[in-house]
Amino acid sequence: MAIVLWTLWFFDILAGNAAFSCSTVGVNFRLFRLSLLAAVMPLVAVADIQLPAAAAPATTAAKPTLPPGAISTVSATPAPAPMPATPEVPAPSLAVAVPATPEPPLEIRRAIAVDEKAPLVSPPVSKIVFTRCEVPAPVIAITFDDGPNPDHTPRLLDMLKARNIKATFFMVGRCVVTWPHIVKRIADEGHEVANHSWSHPLLTSLGNTSLDSQLQKTHDAIIKACGKAPMHYRPPYGAIGMSQRKRIHEKLGYSTILWDVDPLDWKTPRNSKKVEERILANTKSGSIILTHDIHGTTVDAMPATLDALIARGYQFATVSQLIELERETVSTVVATAPAPVPLTPEPTIPVVPMSTLPPETVAPAKPVKAESAGE
Ligand code: NI
Repeated sequence: MAIVLWTLWFFDILAGNAAFSCSTVGVNFRLFRLSLLAAVMPLVAVADIQLPAAAAPATTAAKPTLPPGAISTVSATPAPAPMPATPEVPAPSLAVAVPATPEPPLEIRRAIAVDEKAPLVSPPVSKIVFTRCEVPAPVIAITFDDGPNPDHTPRLLDMLKARNIKATFFMVGRCVVTWPHIVKRIADEGHEVANHSWSHPLLTSLGNTSLDSQLQKTHDAIIKACGKAPMHYRPPYGAIGMSQRKRIHEKLGYSTILWDVDPLDWKTPRNSKKVEERILANTKSGSIILTHDIHGTTVDAMPATLDALIARGYQFATVSQLIELERETVSTVVATAPAPVPLTPEPTIPVVPMSTLPPETVAPAKPVKAESAGE
């Protein structure tokens, strides 16, 4: 290519001679030179394009730069462990094309800009069934079912008061209307009042009208006795249908409260030491403990059981307090975590086989006049 250019330059010097340039030969030569240039220039252009690429060293390829404000997946990845001195696998180059298959969602790491607030997700208020709660501290809830009972509930309240323990009482409506002064004492001493149906039937065997009546009558009776409205209910025997628990939540705003610790205190022969041992063996942070304050053996087991739980560092809360603690915990975790936190799935409702049910769990209310009207 250099020879061609030098030749054209030489002929151009000749064309600069006045005699030559004015002659016919000179004019024809100029036409020839223009034709030659027209033929040669495309080759020169191709040579210009290819030359830098051939001469450019491979190692100086420019790295891609991200526009300002773009999210970098590299910056969000934790620093890798130091590589060995002679790595067998070379480090991946930024020039490698991104594979077409996207990363699985769980492996996505997203950098959050300094001025960007992490999303605040609402607490899982849609969760309406609890067997236990996810809490970050050794907090538990102890619950007493089937009362109030004139023989055992007052002395239980004395035990709780002596230890400054707040509990939750799932009460049967026909007992509430029989001993309303005990219900009032329960509420006045800071315990939570809750609904356990009117006459302790198997709710799954009821139609909607009877189901509504069982819970609404008890709800009204508790309010009349102590001035406080229940926020939760526990189905007798833990048996409740999926559509029923939704119906109850929609009508009364109740959550369904089950349990994860069952000392089988209703089972005969009843034994206080067994009740204590089973509770201590199975209780953990967030536990909801099921007991019955209609059984003397259960209340007899409480001083040693409660003292042992306190000695292990457990703090007692009502069911509502425990649920609120879980909601605060989940909300905080979601707000601070870099990746989404899966919500705890709703627990499976343990349905007690009918063959294992005690023949009569509820203490018979002595003078119950209202019973014949509702059932
Ligand atoms: Ni019960």
